[in-house]
Amino acid sequence: MKHADRWTIPPTMPRLESREAHVWRASVAQWETSQPALVELLDPAERQRAAQFAFPADRQRFVAAHAVLRILLARYLGTTAARLSFTTAAAGKPHVVGPAGAANIEFNMSHAGDCIMIAVTPVSPVGVDVEYWVGDVDEAEFSSEFFSEYEREELRQISRERQHAAFFALWTRKEALVKATGKGLSQGLAHFDMTVDPDTAPRLLADRLHRENEARWRVCDLALDARYSGALVVDRRVTAVRAFRAEPTSLLVDR
Ligand SMILES: CC(C)(COP(=O)(O)OP(=O)(O)OC[C@H]1O[C@@H](n2cnc3c(N)ncnc32)[C@H](O)[C@@H]1OP(=O)(O)O)[C@@H](O)C(=O)NCCC(=O)NCCS
Repeated sequence: MKHADRWTIPPTMPRLESREAHVWRASVAQWETSQPALVELLDPAERQRAAQFAFPADRQRFVAAHAVLRILLARYLGTTAARLSFTTAAAGKPHVVGPAGAANIEFNMSHAGDCIMIAVTPVSPVGVDVEYWVGDVDEAEFSSEFFSEYEREELRQISRERQHAAFFALWTRKEALVKATGKGLSQGLAHFDMTVDPDTAPRLLADRLHRENEARWRVCDLALDARYSGALVVDRRVTAVRAFRAEPTSLLVDR
């Protein structure tokens, strides 16, 4: 069974318990009419990044993703969206700096197609990845830079009809892990083996570079719309994952 089968719209901001992860999904199209107000929430560096996109659709997704992220984090931290600031770790992972005295929280974000995905946990790191299925999937895609020998062999065994589902399930499971650790693509993705079949439980089977990862992380698939795959990676101390929809009607109300 997938994690987060039910994405609920919470009537009020949910409380983040110490051993929980919350994962939020938002639709870019739903937030589109609020774009001018959303731009106001971004800091100068985010606005500059937004301005650099060649295609309006990419810019809109970026603006919506960063604004929704700020709105959610501000609610958790008891401040306002525009007053948050971020630091960036060595391989690019952003961390939020809350107001003095606020509890620490960790987050991670991913955006693709119409989907924005934001995961939040208290203290322990978290990683999330979403991908929109584009292009053909064939053996040429099973690059040794990104997939281990075990994974490439497993992918070859998958029937033609299930190749997209398997490829993107594996890809998002792997990216969510390196986003949880914060390493990103800096060490490649071939040094660890993830389960491949989208219909079996996701699991990190082996990590030849970081053995400690094998016992540390729990991998969860996310149930999404057709042509999307998503995965979440949390510390094993996290015992519950709750899934929510981030909608403008409930979140743009001032509190
Ligand atoms: C992180 C990374 C895997 C993202 O992949 P992606 O599928 O293109 O993008 P996603 O939508 O899933 O995630 C993007 C978000 O992940 C977050 N992110 C960026 N770097 C990250 C990292 N190292 N770890 C975790 N999260 C990261 C940011 O919030 C980013 O959002 P933004 O680009 O809107 O600011 C990839 O871009 C990467 O590895 N970047 C780092 C580059 C690198 O390795 N540099 C070498 C420096 S040592």
